[in-house]
Formats: sequence, C-alpha cells, structure tokens
Amino acid sequence: MTEPFPVGIDGLAFAGPAAYVDLADLAQARGVDPAKFTRGLGQHRMAIASPCEDTVTMAVEAGAQVLQAFDIDPAEIGTLIVGTETGVDHSKPVAVYVHDLLGLNERCRTFETKHACYGAMAGLTSSMDWIASGRARGRKALVIASDIANYGLGTPGEPTQGAGAVAMLVDRQPRLLEIQPASIGDYTRQVMDFWRPLYSKYALADGQYSIQCYLDALAAAREDAVGSRQDLLGELQACLYHVPFVRMAFKAHQRELEMEMGQAISKDEPEQWHQLQDSYAKRCAPWLTLNAEIGNIYTGSLFLSLIDLLRKAGSKLAGQQVSLFSYGSGCGATYCLGKITECAGEWEARLDPSAQLAARRRLSIDEYEYMVRAGEHADRLESLNPDDYGLSGGLYYTGTRDDRRHYESV
Ligand code: HMG
Repeated sequence: MTEPFPVGIDGLAFAGPAAYVDLADLAQARGVDPAKFTRGLGQHRMAIASPCEDTVTMAVEAGAQVLQAFDIDPAEIGTLIVGTETGVDHSKPVAVYVHDLLGLNERCRTFETKHACYGAMAGLTSSMDWIASGRARGRKALVIASDIANYGLGTPGEPTQGAGAVAMLVDRQPRLLEIQPASIGDYTRQVMDFWRPLYSKYALADGQYSIQCYLDALAAAREDAVGSRQDLLGELQACLYHVPFVRMAFKAHQRELEMEMGQAISKDEPEQWHQLQDSYAKRCAPWLTLNAEIGNIYTGSLFLSLIDLLRKAGSKLAGQQVSLFSYGSGCGATYCLGKITECAGEWEARLDPSAQLAARRRLSIDEYEYMVRAGEHADRLESLNPDDYGLSGGLYYTGTRDDRRHYESV
C-alpha cells in the first residue's frame, strides 16, 4: 500500500558535553604528526564527557531542546526511542530515565534500541512505521541518539572518539525532511569489526577491517534501496553518511561513485579523481563541519551531518533530494532517500548548535586523561560533584547510592 502522506523528520537538536580535546594537542602528546588526525582522518576536535555527563543527561538535554525549539508539548509524544550503544544499565533502558526527566505522558511507548551506531536509524524507521500504520493516532515520536565513544588512551581509535546526543521529532507532514519509505534499503551481516564486551568500558575495533565492512554494507544497502542505478548521484544535492571520522565520508562517496561508473577510481587517473573530488566537495564536504568539531557520536553521527546541512542550506536546498546512509558495526545498515521540505529554511537558526560549541572548554591532555580515568569508576561512586568538572546550569549524574543512579539539575 502506498503511504498517503509524507512522514519524516519534523525537528532536530544536538546536545553534547561541555569540554573538548583539540586533536593538535592529542597528536603532540602521542608523538604523531597532527596532519594524520586533521587531514588523514579529517578530525579537528573531539567532545569529551566528564563523569557527570552520560548518555541520559545528553539525551535529556537534546530532547528538551527539540521540544522547545519546535514548539511541541511533551503530551504530544506517543513513542520515545533512545538509540544507544553506551547505556547506563544492563537492563533498565536509558529511554525510561529520559521519559521521566522530560515529563512525557505515561501513555507512551518507550524503549531503547541497540545495534552499535545503527540504533537511531532503527528507531527512526520503526517510528515512521508506527505513524504509517495508524497506531500513532495523531501523536509524534521522539527518537534520540545518545552516545559516548571511548576507545581508551593511546589506542588507534583514540582520535576518533566523541560524545553527544541528537534528538529527532518524527511526524507526518514533517517540517524538515520527508523520507520516502519505498526508497529504504537494508543490510545485515555478522562481522567482528567493532564491539564492546560486557566486561569493558572501551570499544574494541579491527580498524581497517571495519572500514571494509562499512563500505561493503553501503554498497549492499544502496543496492537494496535503489537497485543498480548508475544515475542517482546526479539527482542528489547531498549525500549524508555515518561519520566515524570525516575522511570515512570521502571513502564512502568514492564507493558510491565507483558503483555508478562501474570501475574503481584511482588517484592515478586525474580525470576520475577530479570528478570524485568535485562531487564530494558539492555533496558531502559542506555538511561535515560539526562532525569534525565533535567527533564520532556513534548513533547520532549521521544526524549530526543532517543538522549541519539544514542549518547551512535548509532554504537553498528546499525541495531537493538527499541520501542518508546509516552503518552500525557488527553489522547493520540502511540507505534511504529523503526530500528537504519547502519550509526547512525557516528552522535554520533554531537547529544551529554553534553557540553551545563556542562555549565549550578546551581540556589539556592531562585534564582529559584524568577525566577518562575518573570515568572508569563513576558508575560505582556514591557522590560526584559537577563543580569538580567546571559544570553548572544543567542536568548531571551525581552518583550511585543504594544501587540507584541519581540525576540532579545543578
Ligand atoms: P590508523 O590505522 O592508526 O590510521 O587508524 P591509518 O594508518 O589508517 O591512517 C589514517 C589515514 O591518515 C590514512 O588515510 C593515512 O594515509 C593518513 P587513508 O589512506 O585511509 O586515506 N595519514 C596521514 N595523512 C596526512 N599526514 C600524515 C598522515 N599519516 C597517515 N602524516 C582507524 C585509523 C580509522 C582504523 C582507527 O582510528 C580506528 O580503529 N578507529 C575506530 C574504528 C572506526 O572508526 N572504523 C570506521 C568504520 S566502522 C564504523 O563506522 C562503526 C563505528 O562508528 C562503531 C559503531 O558502529 O558503533 C566505528
């Protein structure tokens, strides 16, 4: 049956930690050429969560912002999904803390999704199905991606860390992006490219293999979505990808162009190489600045790139078609097409997290390492003081007493 009305993303907001590490500082501390991080990976800064900022606090902040910025009464939310791979309990979902702290209606379906970085895309497509099935009865869904990427000090993954949450309202007649259900293509394959065992705070990755798995998943999900089309890119004004590090989007775009050209693209072929660079400069690079400033936020990374696009070009690209690719290690992926709405430009300023990012504090490497080590024990500490991490004016995790996590607005 054809969907009688458009469904998609009706509102977006980002919230992240109050501090960051500059990758030039990290490169110096690790004895690495800074160009490896800035040009080789395309990253400039990474957001670092203190022990008082966790998946719950960031999700609540992003959720509160999206409700306020897009004028939504919490009572209108009938589904809340939090996509995360860095939850705070083996059993209790982050989503139920968020439901309480946002003051949502008790008549609300609430759950957490986990599939590495794919959890929020799973939440987005499920909530679209919930609306299309008629179950929503006029209510909206709130889907929040919230994560802290931790690979550990001195590891190859260290410069690709980050933290943050993206909240999305999902509704019929959306104000930002319509997603075409018939264009959604999926892919799943069991691979050990990236995982986090129950006993570890830190993710483990087979780095180069994970890049191959990502690219294979992109090719397969795209084919499931649009078949073997060789003329799609010409219709797209933007190609948005899951962004574990910015340079990965270049590799992804190269794979898509290679699929359309039916051959590999090499630097030794200047004409093809220029074609790739031009296409990347037009369709991808302009929307990767937030990712370069914040780092990998796992489930939210793709949607951070969407925020970047809409804050910069919501009006210019009104009515235009874009593609979205979500990849979660392990692995699962979705490729789909969306159309920027005619009114998206009206929301450019409300989406923009620039002021929040400008207020962040730059950590020295000593402070960063202290914070990482303190985070290892934070789940067991009875009392944490946000002031010790220079935090005020928000909701924070303040310790676990009587085996219960406590959150307080300071
Ligand atoms: P590495 O192996 O240390 O780095 O770690 P490298 O040697 O591959 O170098 C990186 C790039 O820098 C290369 O560029 C080098 O040439 C270049 P490329 O050849 O790939 O285009 N380079 C330089 N450029 C300029 N000046 C220099 C210089 N030196 C080198 N001096 C790796 C890289 C990404 C593997 C590592 O950071 C890692 O393991 N990261 C974590 C895993 C990851 O991000 N995988 C991505 C795909 S999987 C995914 O996206 C899912 C994920 O988000 C998790 C989830 O789903 O939950 C991770």
